[in-house]
Amino acid sequence: MKVILASDHGGVNLRLEIAEVLKELGVEFEDIGCDCEGSVDYPDYGIPAAERVASGEFDRAILICGTGIGMSISANKVPGIRAALVHDLFTAKVTRQHNDSNVLCMGARVIGPGLASEIAKTWMQNEFEAGRHKNRINKIAEYENK
Ligand code: RB5
Repeated sequence: MKVILASDHGGVNLRLEIAEVLKELGVEFEDIGCDCEGSVDYPDYGIPAAERVASGEFDRAILICGTGIGMSISANKVPGIRAALVHDLFTAKVTRQHNDSNVLCMGARVIGPGLASEIAKTWMQNEFEAGRHKNRINKIAEYENK
């Protein structure tokens, strides 16, 4: 399992917390920044990270911005990406089980580091249930490939 981790300026502190969570879980990861004092644009980090998941170089990405919305919109533009914006533990579990989400987005201005860390752990530790859910995500892929 290889994870790529990125944030804009709004998510730097939370991203560093999530890096510690990944270390704790023993997950291999690459942190691509931002290492920024000033303002950056979330698509400049979210899209390259999502592309590196879609290409197969990484299995999953965790993307953080102020709300998580910019990162999720950006990542979901990349074919093959199923990015989930998650701010609760139930959704963290079910989006893996039902959507096979390969990108987790969180908003550093929405939730604190304690909940975000638990969400990241839950999301990392749950698997896709396939079955009836497989047909649903296949329909999304079919639309992308039209
Ligand atoms: C940056 O100010 C902010 O817009 C960004 O972090 C994010 O919340 C966008 O969705």
